[in-house]
Amino acid sequence: MQIDPAELGAEKTYRLMTGIVVPRPIAWVSSLSAKGVLNLAPFSAFTFVSQKPPMLAISVGSKAGVYKDTAHNILNTEEYVIHIADAPLMDAVHESSVEHPPEISEVEVLKLATAPSERIKVPRLTAPPIAMECRFRQCLEFGETRSRLIVGEVVLIHVRDGLFNNGKIETEALDPIARIAGPRYARLGEIVTLRTVPQTSKS
Ligand SMILES: Cc1cc2nc3c(=O)[nH]c(=O)nc-3n(C[C@H](O)[C@H](O)[C@H](O)COP(=O)(O)O)c2cc1C
Repeated sequence: MQIDPAELGAEKTYRLMTGIVVPRPIAWVSSLSAKGVLNLAPFSAFTFVSQKPPMLAISVGSKAGVYKDTAHNILNTEEYVIHIADAPLMDAVHESSVEHPPEISEVEVLKLATAPSERIKVPRLTAPPIAMECRFRQCLEFGETRSRLIVGEVVLIHVRDGLFNNGKIETEALDPIARIAGPRYARLGEIVTLRTVPQTSKS
């Protein structure tokens, strides 16, 4: 069959695309409101867009023209932390997506421990195996709903001891979670190692 996206409304298109682009890694983002409330929310429209310096992109949507707290906070303060959650944190990640008014901190609701960041003012969570301190670099808006693609530079990476060996992250030990669609998540399945393909330039 063929699907013409022009014939689908925004919600059906969202459901279709979140079923096609799978599995998606999850950026678990902490940010500070202008009043100093620590916000936390997951974003699975997430990838890295530059190697050096490392830069990450998240896509933040809007509802009825109102942007989510995360987008407001990042554009206001220009600082945020992207965490990578592991399987034991799956419930907390999911619960942190519940919409609260800006004056309620999801971090306090979920009783998650924090520590000060080194290079930015936004605190980081201590439970996730990876926390990346980020500085806002660029925001591009796309589509009829003006989704915001927010790009930030990673200025410091906190990695749980034992996870980074010989220049590489130990993926199985990281035990990352991924989002499928709706309330469905996945963990790593079988990992297959193929021969190293010769490269003309590093990619
Ligand atoms: C696993 C997961 C991934 C999500 N990914 C996105 C995303 O990529 N973009 C987005 O706009 N919302 C996404 N959401 C929804 C937001 O997390 C949700 O709207 C949240 O309440 C936003 O919080 P905020 O207003 O505090 O920023 C996701 C939700 C879950 C559970």
